[in-house]
Amino acid sequence: MTDDDLDQIDRNRRHFLGVATAVTGLAGAGLAFYPFLASLQPSARAQALGSPVEVPIGSIEPGEMVRVLWRGKLIFVLHRSDGMLEHLDDSIAMLRDPNSEVVEQQPDYTANATRSVKPEFLVVEGACTHLGCAPIEDFEVRPADSWGGGFFCPCHGSIFDLAGRVFKGVPAPTNLRIPPHRFVRDDLILLGQDTGAV
Ligand code: FES
Repeated sequence: MTDDDLDQIDRNRRHFLGVATAVTGLAGAGLAFYPFLASLQPSARAQALGSPVEVPIGSIEPGEMVRVLWRGKLIFVLHRSDGMLEHLDDSIAMLRDPNSEVVEQQPDYTANATRSVKPEFLVVEGACTHLGCAPIEDFEVRPADSWGGGFFCPCHGSIFDLAGRVFKGVPAPTNLRIPPHRFVRDDLILLGQDTGAV
């Protein structure tokens, strides 16, 4: 990795720290409601039992992300826009495992260039692979900064791109984990179940 790469990672970290300060309060408020929501939503009860969870995706606009629970884990479902996909490899030289070679981090059918079944939908665990904090999203594409959008972990500064691929030089050792899932229909994902080869 070059000095320029390290400078770029530092710039991305500084940007994220500003964002993280602003959202920490909101995140705390959201967590306070989590038990309440879990007590109401049938899908949350299903995931507690380890059952697959249906995730409707038809109303998720390009550029938007929803969070769901599955087996007690926070899962991000991101509808990547054309612009996001276009810049997905902007930071590829700074990634530790750009080709998903750590096989434990994803099912075989997502060990591809976009780490997904369908390029427009990223389904990934919202748990940093360092110590498990929930990463914060920064989806603004900034080509001048070699930043195609991604996630920042506020706990110790790990950075991931929009395929959940970890940057070099951060505490997290591996890419974010992709859970098993499959498309039941174009507008419905089944989380926690796959056919082995989608
Ligand atoms: S838990 Fe994410 S960087 Fe430590």
